[in-house]
Amino acid sequence: MIVDIKGKKILVTASTSGIGKGVAKSLAMEGAYIFVSSRNLDRVIETVKELKNFNENVWGDTVDLTNMASIDKLVNTALSQMGGIDILVVNSGNPPSEPSTFFENDINEWEYSIHLYLLSSIKLVKLITPYMIKRGWGRIFFLSSYTVKEPHDIFVLADVSRAPLLQLTKLLSRELGRHGITVNTILMGSFETTGAVENLRKYSTKIGRPFSEVWKEMVVDPIPVGKLGKPEKHIGKLITYLSSEYGDYITGTYIVVDGGVSRAI
Ligand SMILES: NC(=O)c1ccc[n+]([C@@H]2O[C@H](COP(=O)([O-])OP(=O)(O)OC[C@H]3O[C@@H](n4cnc5c(N)ncnc54)[C@H](OP(=O)(O)O)[C@@H]3O)[C@@H](O)[C@H]2O)c1
Repeated sequence: MIVDIKGKKILVTASTSGIGKGVAKSLAMEGAYIFVSSRNLDRVIETVKELKNFNENVWGDTVDLTNMASIDKLVNTALSQMGGIDILVVNSGNPPSEPSTFFENDINEWEYSIHLYLLSSIKLVKLITPYMIKRGWGRIFFLSSYTVKEPHDIFVLADVSRAPLLQLTKLLSRELGRHGITVNTILMGSFETTGAVENLRKYSTKIGRPFSEVWKEMVVDPIPVGKLGKPEKHIGKLITYLSSEYGDYITGTYIVVDGGVSRAI
């Protein structure tokens, strides 16, 4: 089976580390045009340089997903650099106060989280879909977590702010299907990233237990296949497949990629 996404123009947000970077690298290796982004300019420059080892057609810019004007700037730059956007991969970072429970967060933290996950997704879709509609083709992916369906007390900010993306996925798929645009959410389990390690390190310090013990107990042991996911292989290649001609009948749904950790059916 030949799965071809060569020359597709792809914007990946929050893509200078972890899952976003792994996805961007995987798609760059397939010959797509890639635009990476995050808040830190040095990280953007470094990521562009690294990905250019696989593909010349890689660009990047800074963005803060909690700031609407910054998202406007990102989309304008990506459109003018690549000459369009065919595929949008919405990835995000984490709220600074996470992991934390409901009563540990005040309204400012909720505001940050809702901007980071939900409003940024709405804004990106609003800005980019007119170009996809004009071309009669597009793919939209929201990268999320299986914990939106099976909440974890300490991921309350992300879970509550991201759960509505499942509604958005379904609604958009109904509006955009006739324009050749598919919309899907990927619910991820535990992946090998610096962000995941930092998060659990913060949590283990907070509860006063050794990191290695908490990591094993909370992250590794509950995964039926016995290993963490790899962003390039498990998310990047899934997006490649769904972006190819074989993905045009899969829309308005979520796909769980979690090594079996979720118990929800
Ligand atoms: N790793 C997992 O096991 C796992 C599982 C399920 C879901 N997730 C979700 O996947 C996402 C990525 O996680 P990760 O583990 O890959 O984290 P990571 O390694 O910390 O990477 C996060 C990326 O997001 C960028 N970022 C952070 N805040 C941003 C903002 N306000 N605006 C724009 N870019 C921003 C960071 O760069 P800058 O600092 O330069 O902005 C970085 O490139 C998170 O939303 C996480 O909840 C992760």
